[in-house]
Amino acid sequence: METKITTMSEANFSDVIIIGAGAAGLFCAAQLAKRGIRVSLLDNGKKAGRKILMSGGGFCNFTNLEVGPQHYLSRNPHFVKSALARFNQWDFIALVAEYGIPYYEKEAGQLFCQRGAQDIVDMLLAECKKYGVEIALRQHISAVESMHEADGNRFKLELNGSVRYCRDLVIATGGLSMPGLGATAFGYQIAQQFGMEVIAPRAALVPFTYCEADKGLSLLSGISLPVQVTASCGQSFTNALLFTHRGLSGPAILQISNYWQPNESLAIDLLPQQNISEYLQHLRREAPKLHLKNALSRLFPKKLTELWLERQWIEDISLAELSNFQLHRLEEFIHHWCFKPNGTEGYRSAEVTQGGVDTRELSSKTMESRKVAGLHFIGEVVDVAGWLGGYNFQWAWSSAYACADAI
Ligand code: FDA
Repeated sequence: METKITTMSEANFSDVIIIGAGAAGLFCAAQLAKRGIRVSLLDNGKKAGRKILMSGGGFCNFTNLEVGPQHYLSRNPHFVKSALARFNQWDFIALVAEYGIPYYEKEAGQLFCQRGAQDIVDMLLAECKKYGVEIALRQHISAVESMHEADGNRFKLELNGSVRYCRDLVIATGGLSMPGLGATAFGYQIAQQFGMEVIAPRAALVPFTYCEADKGLSLLSGISLPVQVTASCGQSFTNALLFTHRGLSGPAILQISNYWQPNESLAIDLLPQQNISEYLQHLRREAPKLHLKNALSRLFPKKLTELWLERQWIEDISLAELSNFQLHRLEEFIHHWCFKPNGTEGYRSAEVTQGGVDTRELSSKTMESRKVAGLHFIGEVVDVAGWLGGYNFQWAWSSAYACADAI
């Protein structure tokens, strides 16, 4: 669908200006316009919904069948409750169904588009168009001021050489992940300008990099295996781990990155579905001459067992020769691999940003600033980050709805 590009050359008035035509901004704009409210949606990019298009490997994991506060991280874990209850996953699924968009459940309740993420962007743009939202792209907002005037125009914006006024201003500029897709710190700067606290942002749902000692693991690049990974705080995830050239990735790793703190180690169980000692003891009785490497190759990718042998983490012996001490050592490094990341790949590769506008500054029912009447923050710019699995988009839809409903 073509998006209309508007050039603004004169002072303009809108009931509501939304900054950021991503998931939250687009949805909020349509919800407001549906009620006859004049909405202008401004974005710095040349396209709306760029992150949606990239999401879910191009197929947008737009929500999850099971959504609850336990799937989100925030200084205040209760903050998400009200918005998630008022507009939940079923409400968004109903909209997707209304537009006849084919979707499927990939795993563990994760809903993806069958044809591609463009379907979700088209749907949001169609909703905006249907209710008359003005979408202005390539907008450079250089200043935002609050005004104390009786005529109801509470905010003045300077952009692209012109001035605009509005009664309510909604900041939906997202987090810092993927600067190449237009991410900026604008939302945090506006919050700070108006005296609101911002929790220091950091990259989340992000791959880890190897420290010097583990750089040899880059030989395993491309290998994926099911693991259970546990962070120091006790949170763990069972899913796939992927070795990359530079570190560890895959869904289990992205999920745990939300809970990892710099300098901490992770405990990785490389064989969560069975006990390695029991397996080898059983096999030793049946095939004592079988070499340890070959026995392990039945459970793990060959490249991995070869690396273990090369690094002398395992010995080139038969199962009959395997001592209880060696069994114990194997159990330690297979079930309790202690991996200390050097760091993360940062915003360049992160799916979300943790931290953001402090939830204590906002009403959880309306997303409006407690300090500045008419100023709202929705989506990822707020200190709410979801797990992998459609939870971040659901937060975008739910917070956008709560905000629109309250204006
Ligand atoms: P979003 O980032 O979508 O939109 C912000 C908008 O504001 C952008 O259009 C940006 O250009 C604009 N903007 C920024 N600064 C501006 C400024 N100064 N002036 C004007 N405009 C400005 N989540 C999920 O639930 N399922 C998934 O499958 C995925 N997959 C995924 C893949 C990849 C590669 C990434 C990077 C992220 C995901 N996510 C995800 C996360 C999800 O994309 C993200 O949480 C939402 O897009 C957040 O929606 P927002 O509308 O808050 O921000």
